Amino acid sequence: MIEQPTQGTYEILQDARQTLEEEGKLLAKVYNEPSIFELEAKKIFSKTWIFLAHESEIPWPGDYVLRRIINDSFIVTRDEDGEIHVLFNMCKHRGMQLCRSDAGNASHFRCPYHGYTFSNTGKLQGVPFEKEAYGPEGLDKDEYSMTAAPKMEIYKGLIFASLNPDVPPLEEYIGDMGWYLDFYLEKSPAGLEVIGAPQRWIMPADWKLAAENFIGDGYHTQSTHMSTIKAGIMRVKSPAYLKEGVQITASKHGCLFMGFPPGNYFNYPQSIVDSMLENLNEEQVEVLKENSIMPLNATVFPNLSFLHSSMAIEAEGQSIPYFTLRIWQPIGAGKMEIWSWCLVEQDAPEEFKKNSNRAFLTTFGASGTLEQDDAENWSGQTRVGAGEMAAQHYLNYSAGSAHVEPIPEDEWPGPGTAYPKNYVDFAQRHFWQTYFHFLLDGYNGS
Ligand code: FES
Ligand SMILES: [Fe+2]
Repeated sequence: MIEQPTQGTYEILQDARQTLEEEGKLLAKVYNEPSIFELEAKKIFSKTWIFLAHESEIPWPGDYVLRRIINDSFIVTRDEDGEIHVLFNMCKHRGMQLCRSDAGNASHFRCPYHGYTFSNTGKLQGVPFEKEAYGPEGLDKDEYSMTAAPKMEIYKGLIFASLNPDVPPLEEYIGDMGWYLDFYLEKSPAGLEVIGAPQRWIMPADWKLAAENFIGDGYHTQSTHMSTIKAGIMRVKSPAYLKEGVQITASKHGCLFMGFPPGNYFNYPQSIVDSMLENLNEEQVEVLKENSIMPLNATVFPNLSFLHSSMAIEAEGQSIPYFTLRIWQPIGAGKMEIWSWCLVEQDAPEEFKKNSNRAFLTTFGASGTLEQDDAENWSGQTRVGAGEMAAQHYLNYSAGSAHVEPIPEDEWPGPGTAYPKNYVDFAQRHFWQTYFHFLLDGYNGS
């Protein structure tokens, strides 16, 4: 049961919102405060679309994976007809958790307590000693079938669910950000496949710090990730490699573009480059060709992030591109479970798939070099944010506001608002503005 937040929490948040709007500063306390976490569970994670799985994780009839939205467990299944279902993982007899394995293949789920059996569409099919227990008419099987998530939709292979039956359609929610997500999701008509199972680990850090970092923090790379440049993993000439680029806000979301040498396209194999240039639309190709930039990282509010990068597997070796999707799943104030998937184009050469996965594992896998760099910051911010002093400290989110203007609409082919620099805080502020909007105004689809 989620407790009602105290009036004090609302007042703190209202003040924090106002200070962000007026002065570009954020109250450090919002990084790690239990009463705010309770509010987030109720006002954000129960209200909007949350990413659960990629279609390619359950390619065959009977495949399933177990996923969560805060405390609610769901089984994402593919039934015998190939349809995908998101089923609340609770037996309606006495509430036992029906499925406890992370992934598998099953036509039915049998409850371990009294043995009710459900098909992978969620329908109750078998009740042990039904007549003895419930009389000659038996049990109403429809009434006691599993409950589907209030909403489920799939966006270009990404399976989302929502606890809110009135949430707007997923495509509408993603809105203008979809144009930018194409660079990750639509490089090949064959689509993407997940390599292996998602990696998961727990970090003593608040989910918001990772989400705001991924929406647009190009600035940290020259400091936090300096060692990867020195080690020759990040094959760039200057620590300021992300200074130039484009930061975008689109709908409730945002992303950051990084430059690459003309004709290089993050070092993707030629077959992927060819299909990318054919598959994307004219304006998207213009961004790639004319601007020589590619989206590096992105966040779809609240906690789904994308990272597209290119790094060497061996020091001083050739850069190998990879794509990882991750969710920052809150499991309490100041604590999250990270889920991280590596995806690759289904029609990519096998050798490339292997190398791309290795490049991901060594840099942004659970023990990856850059992942560890980031973990140190986010857990440090969370630790310091827990104390009383944090309630009196306002942090700087003003980069760019004094001297950077958006790129005029007629000079940028994509939707949303584009800023011609990367050491700026526009997207991060946008993240927090959206955050306050959800917490304080209540999300009703706008
Ligand atoms: S709780 Fe599932 S059959 Fe009783
Ligand atoms: Fe980072």
